[in-house]
Amino acid sequence: MRIDILTAVPEIFFSPLHASILQRAQTKGLVTIAVHNLHDWGRKGRIDDYPYGGGAGMVIRVDVVVAAIRTLSETYGPYDEIIYFTPDGQKLSQKLLNTLSLHNKLLLIAGHYKGIDDRIRAYVTQEISIGDYVLTGGELPALVLIDGIVRLIPGVLNDVESALDDSFQDNLLGAPVYTRPPVFEGRRVPEVLLSGDHQAIARWRWEERLRRTAERRPDLLTDHDAAAAPPPLKPSATSETPSNTTSLPSPPAKPSKAAHDTPSE
Ligand code: ADE
Repeated sequence: MRIDILTAVPEIFFSPLHASILQRAQTKGLVTIAVHNLHDWGRKGRIDDYPYGGGAGMVIRVDVVVAAIRTLSETYGPYDEIIYFTPDGQKLSQKLLNTLSLHNKLLLIAGHYKGIDDRIRAYVTQEISIGDYVLTGGELPALVLIDGIVRLIPGVLNDVESALDDSFQDNLLGAPVYTRPPVFEGRRVPEVLLSGDHQAIARWRWEERLRRTAERRPDLLTDHDAAAAPPPLKPSATSETPSNTTSLPSPPAKPSKAAHDTPSE
């Protein structure tokens, strides 16, 4: 997958794209992410102008952004989606992330200041919002989308199943997770997790997911068949831990960076 980002503030992306799982995915060659500075297409570096009709703030010029889109499309070939981040766009969801993760080439456009001249909407294929609040620009929404997509690319997460187990993948919240110590300030890890009984653990996790969803996000359950049986036992659930064990598997004495980075949900 290739993701190009157009922004007036490229430095916002530097640290998030070069740490943890996003960095590892790029190093492994599973995704190429390139940040492009809109100022490179400005007239003498100028990309914005005063708003017609007056008002505070500057507006990014449509001709500058379209020139950038055209250069990038010619250089890298046509994009599957050209995405513009705006609070009035379609609300980002796990379903939308799943769909976008199947594409080969995405161009993300992050507006800043007062936004981009509204005529930009004619040149994009999707308008996406990450929630009903206003941020200073589309850069953080673009990072949210990239993070959500990249972790779905096969091979990015160490545990092939961890993305499938996510909250929201099947409209249920995630089950709680625990590690050592088994008792902390009087709070015990649920006994079933120490039992070594993988069938019982799978059932408990399923029931916890249903219970938490009913308690915290009942709106998610409307489409869900709550009476459905828990998913069949996954092979990894039995292969990772010997079945006769009665204690938690030992965490590595010195967790490697990769192990540290791997999300458990
Ligand atoms: N730009 C500013 N706020 C935004 C939001 N909530 N979603 C997407 N883009 C935005």
